[in-house]
Amino acid sequence: MLFDSHCHLNDDQFAGDLADVLARARAAGVGRIVVPGVDVASSQRAVRLAEQEPEVFAAVGIHPEAAKDVPAEDFARIEALTSHPKVVAIGEIGLDYYWDAAPRPEQQDVLRRQLELAERCQLPVILHNRESTADLVAMIESFRGRVTGVMHCFNESEAVAKRCLDLGYYISFGGPVTFKKADDVREVARGIPAHRLLAETDSPYLSPAPLRGKRNEPERVALVVAQLARVRGQDTEEVARQTAENALRLFTKVETL
Ligand code: NI
Repeated sequence: MLFDSHCHLNDDQFAGDLADVLARARAAGVGRIVVPGVDVASSQRAVRLAEQEPEVFAAVGIHPEAAKDVPAEDFARIEALTSHPKVVAIGEIGLDYYWDAAPRPEQQDVLRRQLELAERCQLPVILHNRESTADLVAMIESFRGRVTGVMHCFNESEAVAKRCLDLGYYISFGGPVTFKKADDVREVARGIPAHRLLAETDSPYLSPAPLRGKRNEPERVALVVAQLARVRGQDTEEVARQTAENALRLFTKVETL
């Protein structure tokens, strides 16, 4: 079984052909998909999708790009969703100093409140990080032993990976691990302990080679897993099994097949 640990099937880009996308994913052996929200509406859409599709599970949260002027009731709405049996994580949350869509102190406050929520409801977090590593690591360090999760689409150094691993986090790789100029990402992927490695597509974004630039979809987690296997000198099937087992261990509310 393949497990796509991060896939925005709730994005408008899938509105027209979701059934076909899911059929292709099933045919490729993708048995589990976690769909994160980026705000209240997309989190609710993720939950609805999870109710409709047996292999889909939802994460709920407010993304740093949506972290400006978040109304208080939005946090309550996100929290209300966490008791749903198919809500398996808080995400996608984090910091983004590249787009800086919200002032940094505001992003940090929104992240902190959602880490507190993750602790309260005992769910893992799915973390987004762009050019904000020092502040993000400091933030998750302040929740050490209380919250863990996954560093989604990891694109940082081996030293940062080590700190996140020490904090109990999993490290997830997506399409960029297949990109021609991503030797540094591959080098980090090579060194991640097998029991902490996850695979994802981040669909509809970041389609892996040789389909780079196209709309991404969950069946292509097979390309990510194959590349991880090549990089690590392992069998593709072994990496498929390990990444799925790891995701099931992290997202404890995901039912096994
Ligand atoms: Ni994402």
